Amino acid sequence: SPLTQDELKAMVGQAALRYIAPGDIVGVGTGSTVNKFIDALATIKDQVRAAVSSSEASTARLQAIGIPVLDANAVEQLSVYVDGADEIDGHGYMIKGGGAALTREKIVAALAQRFVCIADESKRVATLGQFPLPVEVIPMAAQQIARRFAALGGQATLRLKDGQPLVTDNGQHILDVHGLRITDPLAFESAVNQWPGVVTVGVFAHQKASVCLLGTASGVETLTY
Ligand code: A5P
Repeated sequence: SPLTQDELKAMVGQAALRYIAPGDIVGVGTGSTVNKFIDALATIKDQVRAAVSSSEASTARLQAIGIPVLDANAVEQLSVYVDGADEIDGHGYMIKGGGAALTREKIVAALAQRFVCIADESKRVATLGQFPLPVEVIPMAAQQIARRFAALGGQATLRLKDGQPLVTDNGQHILDVHGLRITDPLAFESAVNQWPGVVTVGVFAHQKASVCLLGTASGVETLTY
């Protein structure tokens, strides 16, 4: 019988262990695929010195399996950062932030020499933008940022949770932008980063993947960029 999406995620979470060396401080992302990676890390936890985490949720899981979590300020460099993606293109450029953790994800990714993306094959795309682009914003700037996206052909909606604006780990809001076709992710990321009130845009082009472990029906495909 075909593998379920959950099994594909477990497969790539396990495969990411090959990028972990004994004594490493590991950068850990956020999401359902990363949760599988954390499960796999538990089996080699004595070899892991510590982790730097991208969310309160991942921190709780890491601590539950006995891996110490360090503040990002305590670390100058990580050899590897492991995280999922909402979309990944043929250059290793990604859309992230479906789990609202994009700001800390970009910060931890920027500390790492290598970004290992773990994803099931549904995440692979030719052009970024089918998945609504998450953008973390300062609340008082949300509507002017939404208008700037409208001028680019995008429709921005404020992400809600239980009927109220979702509040991120950093105390800010998230816009989800539909209808974009991001043909030049590097230029797009740079441009949106200039808009006042943008905390983080969910395009990861300057912090792209170096490797993607893609879970497919025929096994783990390793893509390098
Ligand atoms: C979290 O903010 C996101 O960037 C996740 O990495 C992304 O949403 C992938 O999540 P799943 O592994 O749950 O698909």
